[in-house]
Amino acid sequence: MKKTRREFLKDTCTTCLGTVALGFTFSQLSSCSSLPVYKTNLSQKTVEVPLTSFAESNVVIVRDMQVQYDILLVKKSAEEYNALYMKCTHRENPVSATKTGLYCPEHGSTFDLDGNVTKEPAPLPLKRFKTVLSDQSLTIDLNS
Ligand code: FES
Repeated sequence: MKKTRREFLKDTCTTCLGTVALGFTFSQLSSCSSLPVYKTNLSQKTVEVPLTSFAESNVVIVRDMQVQYDILLVKKSAEEYNALYMKCTHRENPVSATKTGLYCPEHGSTFDLDGNVTKEPAPLPLKRFKTVLSDQSLTIDLNS
């Protein structure tokens, strides 16, 4: 059975759900499980993430209640980043992330940090958004 994003969050991270319910605003960084979570409040179709968000980890989850699924930002090098939509390509279940890959708890598909399928049944790679790097931040283009 497909879970909604809210049901998924409630099942997997009640602490984070509580902080979301408290109405966090733009530019807040907290942690969920072992990965940092950057919370936003999108008013446009882009999101700008400060590069300082990668201070503790090369993998950061970007969360916005106006976007149905989280986005996993992966710092591959100082110049190269991936922005992966955490929506399974099998049956649209939210996927979970670790520092080494992504996992769909529904039917067991796995993905590498480039979004490629490493274990089926997912038929396609995760959606990747374009990113633009500047001196202080990384901008994710949600229209891409
Ligand atoms: S919904 Fe992800 S593997 Fe089926």
